[in-house]
Amino acid sequence: MATYVFTAEQLAQIEAIKSRYPSVQSATMPVLWLAQDAFGHVDADVQQLVADTLGLPASHVHGVATFYTQYYKEKKGKHVLDVCTCLSCHISGGYDMLHHLENRLGIKAGETTPDGLFTIQSVECLGACGYAPMMQITNDVFVNELTPEKLDQVIDTLKKGGSPDFEPIGLVNNRETA
Ligand code: FES
Repeated sequence: MATYVFTAEQLAQIEAIKSRYPSVQSATMPVLWLAQDAFGHVDADVQQLVADTLGLPASHVHGVATFYTQYYKEKKGKHVLDVCTCLSCHISGGYDMLHHLENRLGIKAGETTPDGLFTIQSVECLGACGYAPMMQITNDVFVNELTPEKLDQVIDTLKKGGSPDFEPIGLVNNRETA
C-alpha cells in the first residue's frame, strides 16, 4: 500500500480552497484536482488521504472521484487520450478513431503502453459534439474532427515531447464563416 502525504505547501493550498466555500464538502472536487496534480492519480489511497485531510467520510470522496472520468482512479500514462464514443462522435466515426489509436499504440482502450507514455480511454460526451469525432488529451487539449492522419500527427508530436494545438470550440461555426 502506497503512502501519500501532502506537503506543507499543499496543505496551505487546501486551507485556502476550504476558505472559499461555505462547507467543506464543496472543497472535495478542487482538492481532488490538487491531489491528482500532486500524485498523478486519485487511487483509493489518495482518496483516503483527501478524506482524512478534509475530515470527510471516505465514501463521500470516493463517490465524487468515481463519478467523473476526469479523476484518474489508477496510475495512467503521461498522456491520457480520451476518445469520445458517445452518440455524435460514435456516428461520426469515434470508434474507428479509437481502434486506429489501439492499433497504432498496440494497446486496448483502458490500457497504458509499456513505456508509460500513453493511456487510451473511451469516454462519454466531452461537450464538443459539433466537432465530432473528437478527443481530449490529459484533461486539457481538445483535438476536434479526428481523422487517422490527425491522430498519427498527434502521437508523433507527443512522442517528440511537443504539444498538439488546442482546438477551441467556437460559439458559431467558424468553418463556414471564415
Ligand atoms: S458526443 Fe462526442 S463530444 Fe459530445
